[in-house]
Amino acid sequence: MLGTLLLPLLAPLFAREAVGLSSSPFAPGTTAEDVTAGIDLRGRTALVTGCSSGIGLETMRVLAMRGAHVIGTARTQDKAREACSGVAGSTTPVALELSDFDSVVACAGAVRALDMPIDMLICNAGIVLDTHEQVRGLEKQFVVNHLGHFLLVDRVIDRVKAAPQGRVVVLGSGDHGRAPPGGIQFDDLSGKSWYARGYSHSKLANGLFSLELARRLQGTRATSNCVTPGHARTNILRNVGSNYRDDARTPAQAAATPCHVATSPTLATANGLYFRDGQAVAPDPMQRDAAMARRLWQVSENLVRDHLA
Ligand SMILES: NC(=O)c1ccc[n+]([C@@H]2O[C@H](COP(=O)([O-])OP(=O)(O)OC[C@H]3O[C@@H](n4cnc5c(N)ncnc54)[C@H](OP(=O)(O)O)[C@@H]3O)[C@@H](O)[C@H]2O)c1
Repeated sequence: MLGTLLLPLLAPLFAREAVGLSSSPFAPGTTAEDVTAGIDLRGRTALVTGCSSGIGLETMRVLAMRGAHVIGTARTQDKAREACSGVAGSTTPVALELSDFDSVVACAGAVRALDMPIDMLICNAGIVLDTHEQVRGLEKQFVVNHLGHFLLVDRVIDRVKAAPQGRVVVLGSGDHGRAPPGGIQFDDLSGKSWYARGYSHSKLANGLFSLELARRLQGTRATSNCVTPGHARTNILRNVGSNYRDDARTPAQAAATPCHVATSPTLATANGLYFRDGQAVAPDPMQRDAAMARRLWQVSENLVRDHLA
């Protein structure tokens, strides 16, 4: 298997070598239900952002089906409530608008008020834009896909560390390799000159964030990994003119890797890795750049400084 073959090469690049990767149960068409079959999540808590649609909705459904209590976030309380009410099992709806840092702080407060360790924190919500939009002078996909999640994780990471083996799973994308040349555009995050690659830029940020978080979690029981779900027919392209490819996955298939990395007992020590189809694979060199990951962390901290815990 590719991931297994790459593992010796990946190990020096990442914080900790994954174990048990060769036992990945993936085959073409594998679904989230398939990869979680036989895994008992009773007594565990998951926080899934973007539970109102696509991969997030399916992830919430399957984790709840396996017994987890799922805190599902959507941009409004009504949307979160509607999504949660359509899922069998134990769920708690919470509002989270990632472009609004006050909303992120309020969401973290609501999560903390539940007073439970978080076993799985799945940073899933995301948007694709093909126009140039800004929030606080920053390119909007960078804010929604990366910065909002950065702040959310900052405010609840102690709950993840409190779990017996907490896992942060960040939804990245194979598109990270199409980020602007040089990677994160630290000198101008407005996006004016690179908004056409803004989604890829934000997905590179997701991958680098997960990598640096993994480094910071070394020595704890908690882990952080980045996953790509593969091209899937969801609502993600609603703001752009492009179409889904004929081979696009279903949300059930696309949720397989996030659910596998969040739940598989074989991945308890996997940290700082990038997964595709259930296997750890090498991302683009930009997403393995530890110096860029550290700088992104510092810059992100500065950008949300007023809202940090
Ligand atoms: N589908 C693919 O081909 C593909 C490929 C690679 C990676 N991914 C990644 O997979 C993740 C899930 O995407 P998806 O395909 O399931 O897309 P989706 O169906 O559009 O779902 C995205 C979710 O994110 C939420 N969201 C959007 N903007 C938000 C904001 N400002 N604040 C809070 N939540 C927000 C959406 O809420 P609303 O419904 O209220 O807008 C929705 O619940 C994303 O991170 C995406 O980048 C997807």
